[in-house]
Amino acid sequence: MGETHAAHGEPQLAAPGLSDAEFAQFQGLLRRLAGIHLAPAKKALVCGRLGKRLKHHGLASYGAYFRLLTSGRETHEMQIALDLLTTNETYFFREPKHFDFLRDHILPARRPGATFRLWSAACSSGEEPYSLAMLLAERLGGAPWEMVASDISTRVLERARSGHYALERADHIPEAYLRAYCRKGVGPQDGTFLVERGLRARIDFRRVNLNEPLPQLGAFDVIFLRNVMIYFELETKRQVVQRLIPALRPGGYLMVGHSESLNGVTDDLRPVSPSVYRKP
Ligand SMILES: C[S@@+](CC[C@H](N)C(=O)[O-])C[C@H]1O[C@@H](n2cnc3c(N)ncnc32)[C@H](O)[C@@H]1O
Repeated sequence: MGETHAAHGEPQLAAPGLSDAEFAQFQGLLRRLAGIHLAPAKKALVCGRLGKRLKHHGLASYGAYFRLLTSGRETHEMQIALDLLTTNETYFFREPKHFDFLRDHILPARRPGATFRLWSAACSSGEEPYSLAMLLAERLGGAPWEMVASDISTRVLERARSGHYALERADHIPEAYLRAYCRKGVGPQDGTFLVERGLRARIDFRRVNLNEPLPQLGAFDVIFLRNVMIYFELETKRQVVQRLIPALRPGGYLMVGHSESLNGVTDDLRPVSPSVYRKP
């Protein structure tokens, strides 16, 4: 490891570089754990995001950090690394056509009297499930509905459970939903808003790794699996979708991101609209 000299004072240790061999170790680890493929272009991202963990543990190389991660001595550290290496970009009412499809086609044809069940299966910091919950609360009134929202990252799940966001995040929330389901922060909470407690309580947030056998969650009318398969290779996409299909009730819908498709991934679901699939 090299040394650099600060303009004034003590010599400082230069940040270590990430060698190709070390990058390959993290690539393999993330693929095994989460199914996520880290393209070579992500090397700088891995270097930047994990650099602070090396510092935290006083380690001199990424190889040493990899050994710590895989030693089994620091199980909590593995979750921290996963949290740092996942990409969690999301926003309220992202890709609105899916919300329109739900409102105009799925909800009006739902099974009368049955609890409507929806799963946001890579929910990130909660914007997707809360957008869905606002729509369900408005459209279904007193009719029963349930929602599970899950992600592999515990850090984003904490943010999701809190339902607390910067006010700028509210830009895509329709005005009527803002008034009905969001509370504007005052005093020290100025510049933020909180999703109303009743709505927060209706969502069951839990950690689910889609790259492992799934827990028993029951059958769903709709599963949102949006903007997560972009990180998976074809074989992982196939396995993840095969795992999810039994969790869809017959006639249930699977939504994937607008830039994603199930072409070559499964023949067990029928395309009904762009990025919307239905179980026969
Ligand atoms: C880009 S966000 C998409 C959020 C939201 N669905 C949307 O479309 O706005 C992708 C999310 O997938 C999660 N993720 C990645 N791999 C996963 C896995 N194997 N199991 C569960 N979640 C995963 C990430 O932690 C991240 O929060």
